[in-house]
Amino acid sequence: MSNKLIDRVFIVRDWVDERFPIIEFWDAHLSKYYAPKNLNFWYYFGSLAVLMLVIQFLSGIFLAMNYKPTAGTAFASVEYIMRDVNWGWLIRYMHSTGASFFFVVIYLHMFRALLYGSYRKPRELLWLFGMVIFAVLMAEAFMGYLLPWGQMSFWGAQVIISLFGAIPYIGDELALWIRGDFVVADATLNRFFAFHVIAFPLLLLGLVLFHMISLHSVGSNNPDGIEIKKHKDENGVPLDGIPFHPYYTLKDTVGAVVFLMIFSAVLFYAPEMGGWFLEKDNFVPADPLKTPEHIAPLWYFTPFYAILRAVPDKFLGVMAMGASIAVLFALPWLDRSPVKSIRQRGWIFKGALATFVVSFVGLAYLGTVAATPTATLFSRIFSVLYFAFFLLMPFYSKFDKTKPVPERVTEK
Ligand code: HEM
Repeated sequence: MSNKLIDRVFIVRDWVDERFPIIEFWDAHLSKYYAPKNLNFWYYFGSLAVLMLVIQFLSGIFLAMNYKPTAGTAFASVEYIMRDVNWGWLIRYMHSTGASFFFVVIYLHMFRALLYGSYRKPRELLWLFGMVIFAVLMAEAFMGYLLPWGQMSFWGAQVIISLFGAIPYIGDELALWIRGDFVVADATLNRFFAFHVIAFPLLLLGLVLFHMISLHSVGSNNPDGIEIKKHKDENGVPLDGIPFHPYYTLKDTVGAVVFLMIFSAVLFYAPEMGGWFLEKDNFVPADPLKTPEHIAPLWYFTPFYAILRAVPDKFLGVMAMGASIAVLFALPWLDRSPVKSIRQRGWIFKGALATFVVSFVGLAYLGTVAATPTATLFSRIFSVLYFAFFLLMPFYSKFDKTKPVPERVTEK
């Protein structure tokens, strides 16, 4: 660029800046926002979650251009997108495979918080915003799955909405109110479409904004679990911090490129992941008169679904399923360890976390298979272990033998 052109660019930038504080924003959130210099692999998943949100928004907008949200037209319009719309198959798979990738990213993002105690003081609110995002994301995915109006869309929604019917006194009325009809029907599809394409995405956007404001107000935690704001130089810059831009913008770009390579490989070669990302039954149009042999939600709901099925009583099962998500909200107050990061925790916490991971993955698998007596037995064992991880945490986290926390961040 010639010098003259650069000068002009600066003139425009300053003109805008006098009227809209772009430089202040850039400094506060990028070039003078100091992040710990030891952020590792696990810290890619925050920016990847932002990337997935953008991919879902963009592919969703293009899908909505050809999708027809009525019970009579929905299934055929999705088939039309897959077969006749230019690149329609790619847009559809970006969105459906994208939903599964979004949850992979989110589960790893949440697991990082467990590893390094990122939910602990002063990041409790950041965690709570994250948990609300998680709940809204689940609702968003659930409503999106009804839209193709296949057998699993219909029967999955039928089963989940009927769970509300288990609530004493108001249950049946509530389920009727949610469906807008006596069974899942056109009215249900219309309202789920409205929520899925506008209300919940807006809510998610606002919540992610709150999540980021909260993050930038307290600052990132790190694998050592120490607060970099404790050691600052004379200018108030954390000694263990580096500017987010260019260091982490570049690092996150590398993460995003590698991630997109993996995403593309799945998108082009196994978009349905053998039925894990799009169930086979969903390629059959919804038939209210024919129940599929085996109704199961997609993999990202199955840990909670398995907990529901592990309890013999329907209402108590619904309560247990709700509690399995609600207990995550309380995490910042359940952990009483003097340290945050797994690096300084003792074997009890490490063992408890490993058991939790095994039970979560076990439940995820069990939620996809038929409820045989053996599967139910294992679901019960894993459900108990799942809850034990949280409910016993106030005790074992306190008595676990911990290592001293380093003063400054450590780097290999
Ligand atoms: C749309 C969904 C989400 C987006 C876009 C998002 C975005 C981000 C970003 C960009 C960061 C900073 C980079 C990083 O630390 O990885 C972050 C940090 C964090 N997020 Fe999320 N997040 C989402 C969902 C969640 C959920 C569901 C939770 C937990 C319930 C959560 C909990 C946290 C925590 C605790 C941190 C701080 C981590 C630390 O400093 O060690 N986030 N998030």
